[in-house]
Amino acid sequence: MQKTITVIRGDGIGPEIVEQAIRVLNRIAEKFGHTFCFQNVLAGGCAIDACGTSLPEDTLQKCLNCDSVLLGAVGGPKWDGVPKEIRPEAALLGIRSAMGLYANLRPARLFRQLAAASPLKPEIVSRGIDLMMVRELIGGAYFGAHVTAEEKGELVAHDDMTYAEHEIERIARTAFSIARKRDHRVISVDKANVLDTSRLWRKVVGRVAGEFPDVKCENMLVDNTAMQLVKNPAQFDVVVTENLFGDILSDEASMITGSIGMMASASLGEGTRGMYEPIHGSAPDIAGKDLANPIGTILSAAMMLRYSFDLDEEAACIEDAIDRVLDAGYRTADIMSEGCMQIGCREMGDKILEQIG
Ligand code: IPM
Ligand code: MG
Repeated sequence: MQKTITVIRGDGIGPEIVEQAIRVLNRIAEKFGHTFCFQNVLAGGCAIDACGTSLPEDTLQKCLNCDSVLLGAVGGPKWDGVPKEIRPEAALLGIRSAMGLYANLRPARLFRQLAAASPLKPEIVSRGIDLMMVRELIGGAYFGAHVTAEEKGELVAHDDMTYAEHEIERIARTAFSIARKRDHRVISVDKANVLDTSRLWRKVVGRVAGEFPDVKCENMLVDNTAMQLVKNPAQFDVVVTENLFGDILSDEASMITGSIGMMASASLGEGTRGMYEPIHGSAPDIAGKDLANPIGTILSAAMMLRYSFDLDEEAACIEDAIDRVLDAGYRTADIMSEGCMQIGCREMGDKILEQIG
């Protein structure tokens, strides 16, 4: 199989973690007889520095003309002062929207080797955490009109939150389809006691649920969900929600696993092309020090193999290799605990390559 992958290393620790993911993909290519061609492009803060905008046209074109995109992380305090249209975050939103990536899959699972790192009590953690957050990614308040204007002598800001039926329908279908490959349970999260967008959300999700009689569907209010995630995370299988709620809940879900550096994500649209990135940020404080954890990015590359290229065996090969490296006691600084061996970002890449063989 031959695939072209657009690579956005980005800012902060982005370049060093992506480097390790590329080494892993190259090893997989060798082992299984595939060819992955990487085309490097700039986006985020480094693109602002080099081209005056966080999302150069060439970058967007290469994202639209490839088989998938691998992204490290973008942003950092250095670009806090730039106008909002060219902020590093705008690049991310621009790519998501231009590529039509409406479904953001964020698996949050507890690695048994790292259970002690969870901030939750052991009796809660021992029931396990293995959920899939399915976040709508190109609608809602993120993509409505954003306006700040003077009204009656003071500044007033508006962020319009809009959802159309078709936008809810397609993300609901994604969630139910994923549930079919998991434990056949979906919890749809909204604020239907207050918001019209949520009332429509609940109605449309209910309708789509009818097409999936083998999947159990429940509704949960977002504030209660935030609470339930720390109280009893084992109750969740697939969680589906709108953009802003999903942004917040997915950080919470990853944090309770205790290892945000390990969490991967996939953003998908109608076709097979997607964008894959770790869910953590650019961590400028540790950038360039070989301290970062590359596993979230490497697991994102594995998700690319599985979801975009249909290479299940290759994806499992990467996941198993990581499992064995953790079993052997190797840890980057963020997941270090007593009795384990602390290694750097590159060495973590080495260890995973060794296990892939
Ligand atoms: C995420 C991030 C982005 C978002 C930011 C950087 C725009 O927090 O991917 O969750 O809010 O979607
Ligand atoms: Mg976020």
